[in-house]
Amino acid sequence: MFRKNILCIGAGYVGGPTMAVIARHCPEYRVVVVDISHERIAQWNSGDLPIYEPGLAEIVSEVIGKNLFFSTDVDSHIEKADIIFVSVNTPTKTFGLGAGKAADLQFWEKTARQILKSSSTGKIVVEKSTLPVRTAAAIGRILDSNDQGVHFEVVSNPEFLAEGSAVRDLENPDRVLIGARQTESGQAALREIVEIYRHWVPEEKIVTSNVWSSELSKLVANAFLAQRVSSINTISALCEKTNADIEEVARAVGMDSRIGSKFLKAGVGFGGSCFKKDILNLTYIAENYGLFEVARYWEQVVQINSYQQRRFVNLIINNMFNTVAGKKIAVFGFSFKADTGDIRESPAICVCQALLEERAVLAIHDPKALEGANQELADYTGQFTLESDPYHAALGAHAIVVATDWAEFTTLDYERIYESMEKPAFVFDGRNLLDHQKLYEFGFSVHRIGRPSLSRI
Ligand code: NAD
Ligand code: UGA
Repeated sequence: MFRKNILCIGAGYVGGPTMAVIARHCPEYRVVVVDISHERIAQWNSGDLPIYEPGLAEIVSEVIGKNLFFSTDVDSHIEKADIIFVSVNTPTKTFGLGAGKAADLQFWEKTARQILKSSSTGKIVVEKSTLPVRTAAAIGRILDSNDQGVHFEVVSNPEFLAEGSAVRDLENPDRVLIGARQTESGQAALREIVEIYRHWVPEEKIVTSNVWSSELSKLVANAFLAQRVSSINTISALCEKTNADIEEVARAVGMDSRIGSKFLKAGVGFGGSCFKKDILNLTYIAENYGLFEVARYWEQVVQINSYQQRRFVNLIINNMFNTVAGKKIAVFGFSFKADTGDIRESPAICVCQALLEERAVLAIHDPKALEGANQELADYTGQFTLESDPYHAALGAHAIVVATDWAEFTTLDYERIYESMEKPAFVFDGRNLLDHQKLYEFGFSVHRIGRPSLSRI
């Protein structure tokens, strides 16, 4: 017999890993994850998980069938649940009012209505998705629109995990944030959610607040992280003009304990499903409150990111004698960062599309994201190949473009790769990842972000 029934609606990058870790630490809770996608649920149940996260498969196999279950039967599990986490997607709206900026809340609203329809008893509804500040008020109004007197308490518990390190982040979070209403029932619901995390998260890392602070803090945390990446990327452009070295500047600046050294890695720009969407959402909210200066300030973070991606493409084309038409280029990495197969908003997409528009012939290699690359670049079918072997990708190529920071790219035999390529052979390292001096010694011309080129031409 289980003490409580936890349900999570949405079996994606957040729902799946988060619930697996909760199930592992809370054996007395029954945890069910539901999704409308039959394919995703079948994958979670098959052991061949729909997402790649280091360490995740082991945890899922430990608890699946014991106190963790995946299902497509949303309605019946809603009825049985005491606590419902909702981690459905909240993408940027692509139509109507706020298109291109506001969060598209249709999945959330549908979920709220489904909870309302399928519940004969009161429940705690937890906002796990990232949502605009004050969404809990709207969700609360929908849920309270029942005439059976069923009471729902909406609690905010945003997720801060990063892809590629989701298990580590969930097991050992910097903090867990829980926001609830300052009413008796709000505080009782808050205690129930705190109780879950107490199983493995130290007390001092469980932070409580009011609902609005919690909702807003999530958007702000992502905005600050993305802002650091854009900040260092602007300075990388300045380094290229002045012969300063961005790695040296980032080290010197980051050693100031007030600034800190994390998220100061210059590169081809940030990707991922959330940074851009959450900042645009923040700017939309600011505009709605008439705070136009605030909106313009944060918008710059996204604009600089596009600027950085364009700069990298120009670096490639300019150094390849202003033409890449008909030239084979090996692209190392397609996911938006290492250790994930996720390609959402990956800078590699923009880089590859620009090179394909210039009529280059691409050989794309990525340890986990080739299927995604194939779908994303479907309009260019015939102009690129997908290579599981990096040596084959580089064979006969004029250049290697490093688009993702996969550690395994650092251990390849670049002397052998150089021998197999057209000459002059180039490396464009969009992540400042490889040993550039060694590459130069092998014969490559090396171009990188915010650092002087090691050019033989
Ligand atoms: P995702 O697209 O991987 O997963 C969302 C899932 O919800 C999908 O499988 C979809 O089929 C399902 N879904 C949509 N509507 C549904 C419905 N009515 N009923 C049942 N299932 C439904 O998204 P994600 O990356 O897990 O992100 C989810 C939320 O968490 C977003 O708000 C995101 O901003 C936030 N977030 C994401 C990350 C991350 O690293 N990906 C980290 C922190 C927060
Ligand atoms: C980010 C946040 O780090 C998480 O806390 C948050 O929960 C999540 O967004 C979310 O809300 O979705 P994620 O996008 O998975 O996580 O990955 P990050 O490690 O933040 O990297 C984002 C992008 O920035 C990647 O493309 C990465 O390569 C790039 N980046 C990161 C840099 O270019 N330089 C850096 O110094 C750090």
